[in-house]
Amino acid sequence: MSTEKWIIGTGFSRGIGFELAKVIKDNNYKIIHLGRGQCGFEDVFIWWDLLNPIKETPILELSKSLYGKSIAGFIYGAGVMPVLGVSESNRAEKHLFWQSQAEAMRVNYFSCAEIIEDILPFIMSKNDAQSSITPFVAHLSSLAAVDPFPGLELYGATKSACLLYFQWLSKRFAMDELTCLSVHPGAVLTDMVNNVIQNSPSDLEIVKIYKKMIQNKELMDPKRSAENIYNFLFTDSPMRNNSHGKLYLADKNEIFAYK
Ligand SMILES: NC(=O)c1ccc[n+]([C@@H]2O[C@H](COP(=O)([O-])OP(=O)(O)OC[C@H]3O[C@@H](n4cnc5c(N)ncnc54)[C@H](OP(=O)(O)O)[C@@H]3O)[C@@H](O)[C@H]2O)c1
Repeated sequence: MSTEKWIIGTGFSRGIGFELAKVIKDNNYKIIHLGRGQCGFEDVFIWWDLLNPIKETPILELSKSLYGKSIAGFIYGAGVMPVLGVSESNRAEKHLFWQSQAEAMRVNYFSCAEIIEDILPFIMSKNDAQSSITPFVAHLSSLAAVDPFPGLELYGATKSACLLYFQWLSKRFAMDELTCLSVHPGAVLTDMVNNVIQNSPSDLEIVKIYKKMIQNKELMDPKRSAENIYNFLFTDSPMRNNSHGKLYLADKNEIFAYK
């Protein structure tokens, strides 16, 4: 068995995921990237549109690629923000609005759960006896999953679905068997935030909040966000161990506490 350690990931083409892939590569992990565009840090790239259900994806190609590799973890970094504003009177616009919610649910939840269920046997084979950390599955979640800003409720619903799926996973597997991690990166200046500002009605509360945060330089740089996330995911710490099945707030270095 090779001593190379592999990370499987999505969302590495842009934003936080791109910076995360860079740090992972800098730390000598090998990367299998599932996505629509390469980032340049991957050792294996498998073209994958997360809008598609698993039966329409190259899952067989992925399974073949995983054979014999030591998998340290899986990171679902991909995500989309659905359309936020809708006119009550325009039927065509309403239709596009709900189509966008369905697509966000597919990318932010279903595809993540489907991929994890299919690759679990490879991750759980414990073929990496030398690893300093328990194998993990992680996804980039959001505070909106538990406490959405006004306007982000439906996006939050897609993130809640995935968070609940991770909670269920954490009940199926003990922390020292498979660590199940949900990470809120913080508010980070990426295409996702810029698109909300540019494409949503300017009177939406969240648009005003983002604009103000940019003005006050309160949005995090994706590189810093990725470093926080890397340190959390790849360090065998009490914080990581306590986060099994919970929501970790990477910007605050704390676990979300329900009131
Ligand atoms: N930015 C924030 O403030 C913030 C806050 C809380 C949570 N998050 C979460 O953090 C994650 C990363 O966000 P980000 O801000 O870095 O977003 P981003 O810059 O918009 O990047 C999104 C990533 O998801 C990928 N993706 C989207 N749809 C896909 C599809 N159908 N098939 C394959 N890949 C797809 C994109 O790939 P393509 O290049 O192929 O589109 C891209 O790599 C998301 O889950 C987001 O919900 C972000």
